[in-house]
Amino acid sequence: MSFSPAKIGSLCIGLLLALTAVPAGAQNQSLNMGRKELVIKRGFKPEAAKCIECHSKKSPGIVAQWKDGRMSHAGISCYDCHVVEKSSPMASQCEGLKGTNTFISPMVSSKTCSRCHPQEVEQFLKSGHAKLATAAVMDPKKAGGKLIKLQFWYEGCARQANLKLTWNTGTPKGIKPYMLGARASGCQMCHGTTVELGPDHKPINDSWPGGVGMRYPDGSVGNCSVCHERHTFSISDARKPEACGACHLGPDHPNIEIYHESKHGQLYAVQGEKWKYDSPPDAWEPGDYLAPTCATCHMSGIGELTPTHNVQERLKYDLMHKKTVVRSGDRGDGEKAAPLMRKVCANCHSTTHVRVQQSTLDRAVNLYNVYWDGAVKMKKELAAKNLLGKDPWNDGFQELMYYLWHHTGRRARQGAAMNGPDYAHWHGFFQVFQLYMDMENIYNQRIKTGKIEPVSTVVSSAPY
Ligand code: HEC
Ligand code: HEC
Ligand code: HEC
Ligand code: HEC
Ligand code: HEC
Ligand code: HEC
Ligand code: HEC
Ligand code: HEC
Repeated sequence: MSFSPAKIGSLCIGLLLALTAVPAGAQNQSLNMGRKELVIKRGFKPEAAKCIECHSKKSPGIVAQWKDGRMSHAGISCYDCHVVEKSSPMASQCEGLKGTNTFISPMVSSKTCSRCHPQEVEQFLKSGHAKLATAAVMDPKKAGGKLIKLQFWYEGCARQANLKLTWNTGTPKGIKPYMLGARASGCQMCHGTTVELGPDHKPINDSWPGGVGMRYPDGSVGNCSVCHERHTFSISDARKPEACGACHLGPDHPNIEIYHESKHGQLYAVQGEKWKYDSPPDAWEPGDYLAPTCATCHMSGIGELTPTHNVQERLKYDLMHKKTVVRSGDRGDGEKAAPLMRKVCANCHSTTHVRVQQSTLDRAVNLYNVYWDGAVKMKKELAAKNLLGKDPWNDGFQELMYYLWHHTGRRARQGAAMNGPDYAHWHGFFQVFQLYMDMENIYNQRIKTGKIEPVSTVVSSAPY
């Protein structure tokens, strides 16, 4: 395709921008690149148009994604999301802006989105995807220092170097650069971390980019681009299970695997391509799809339920921590939430079916709790007799207890909650009872001999 400038003018009617492939020899030399470029004719302020024009050469991938999204049609551009006040702690200037009065930041938090989407941001901030997600990785108080120790002392090899680490929050003082490798490649990319800045207002210590709960230097929280991939920010993509599967997977929370093995996931796999994903919020209903995705059950409007960015809103139980309890406090309100989730199911299942599913979950949770309580009882007795190793990661009983709740126990509970029988059983309760019996053996042996076995009997996490 190639258009003359006159033709562009008429084609632009009703459009905000025109895509042109300028043929070699065209009059405008600056556009004479022999490839597709964006020429912004109207609809954007000149300062906003400049970003797009230059970036379509310097980072064509980003501009292509932006063009593919709905916000570009509404005239929302780089300028709206990336330009910050000169006084912002994150303010810097890219190559193209040196010498101007315009300042930008590569970091964009939920605060920017809240200018135009206040409701989504308000709901999001109440959920575990915001502050709580980073607390798990960053807050010494919340994480008891233990999880920070996990990232740097154990995984980061500070232990091998025998370093004395001190930290308040952020990155511990005195570590060697390689010790940042575990956090930046792992926890941070799912949970988020606190962004630390250097003197040029750019991130240091690999503390950016990161996952859902990112804490930004201006005090704002949350990275909305984890489900709405930049720069398309699509509602359709976020409604597909893959939007969640990047983080909700693996041995300790195999939500995407459970989904794929459930009847719902089976239907998504065989028919999902034909479903419709772009209906507006509150109008995406059965008929557009025949089985629910993660979004349907946890976020979307369906029947009488309205959409929410607070993923706690429909959860009765806290299924991620050691003992399962009904949610309360900053984890939501489980009693209020349970009927909401069941309203989701009632759009496609009978009352009898819905009742059975709630009862199955309640029973699975109670069964798991019996194991957990037994484990706690054994641990207390061992502690009272001084029969627990000081380093929990190097003590067979405590290692198994970790896998009991964090891996196998979560799989059993979440498999039961989301209708994945293989996870509820073979990766779940089957392994729960095996672990429990191994723990009993270690417990009995220690009580009998009055000694901790000299080497941990737990070789690796592989089977668990
Ligand atoms: C609707 C808001 C929005 C718009 C419009 C937008 N961005 Fe972004 N951009 C983001 C978000 C969110 C991030 C991720 C920020 C984070 O992780 O802190 C980002 C990240 C970036 C990054 C750094 C990440 C990387 O992959 O290198 C660059 C560069 C960037 N955007 C350039 C652009 C350009 C150029 C445009 C215009 C074509 C643009 N953005 C339009 C929101 C936006
Ligand atoms: C004349 C060209 C030009 C213009 C105009 C321009 N940029 Fe850039 N921008 C660049 C180049 C070159 C880079 C560096 C890309 C890289 O790091 O590889 C860059 C980098 C960026 C980054 C990433 C910064 C980082 O530290 O990672 C963002 C965000 C960005 N620009 C946004 C904007 C916005 C918003 C505007 C308009 C207000 C704009 N740019 C105008 C050329 C330009
Ligand atoms: C300056 C206002 C403005 C800002 C800032 C803004 N948006 Fe939007 N956004 C809009 C408008 C307007 C639309 C509707 C576009 C349309 O469908 O015509 C929209 C649509 C969307 C959609 C729906 C896209 C679709 O596929 O239907 C998502 C998701 C979204 N925005 C997310 C974000 C996120 C995340 C941020 C922050 C990184 C953000 N927006 C920042 C104005 C804004
Ligand atoms: C970038 C990674 C990431 C993505 C993508 C993601 N999540 Fe999460 N999610 C997390 C983390 C991390 C937590 C744990 C938060 C914490 O520490 O409390 C979490 C927690 C949750 C919880 C429990 C929340 C609570 O308040 O206790 C639900 C439900 C959930 N996610 C559903 C979803 C769904 C549905 C999607 C997709 C539409 C999704 N998540 C996408 C990382 C992610
Ligand atoms: C692949 C993404 C991913 C990685 C990597 C990851 N997590 Fe998580 N984490 C999650 C998700 C998703 C949940 C929610 C699990 C659920 O609801 O069952 C979670 C839950 C948690 C929880 C329980 C919730 C809470 O806030 O108390 C803690 C603690 C936690 N993670 C800490 C960490 C630490 C520390 C690391 C790194 C050493 C880490 N995670 C690595 C995705 C991840
Ligand atoms: C856990 C994944 C997830 C995260 C994180 C997330 N969203 Fe969404 N978002 C979705 C899903 C799924 C939908 C569609 C819900 C539905 O079906 O109505 C959606 C819908 C939207 C819409 C409605 C679009 C329209 O067409 O009107 C906007 C706006 C939006 N999100 C903005 C945001 C903003 C702003 C943030 C950051 C605070 C954010 N989202 C974070 C998953 C997410
Ligand atoms: C058929 C509806 C349905 C679908 C589809 C679904 N879930 Fe769930 N999910 C549930 C129910 C029900 C629970 C347990 C709720 C409760 O506690 O009452 C749950 C629990 C969870 C939890 C546990 C929160 C905690 O306390 O640790 C996470 C995380 C989660 N779902 C994420 C996902 C993800 C990611 C997907 C898609 C891969 C998904 N869900 C698909 C219904 C669904
Ligand atoms: C959009 C419709 C829809 C929603 C909403 C929905 N389901 Fe389903 N569900 C289906 C379909 C379709 C099947 C497949 C039935 C078949 O052909 O075997 C199914 C199958 C199941 C099965 C497999 C057992 C059986 O009946 O064959 C379970 C269990 C289940 N759903 C539980 C739930 C629960 C629990 C919820 C709510 C948290 C829920 N579903 C929400 C459509 C839905």
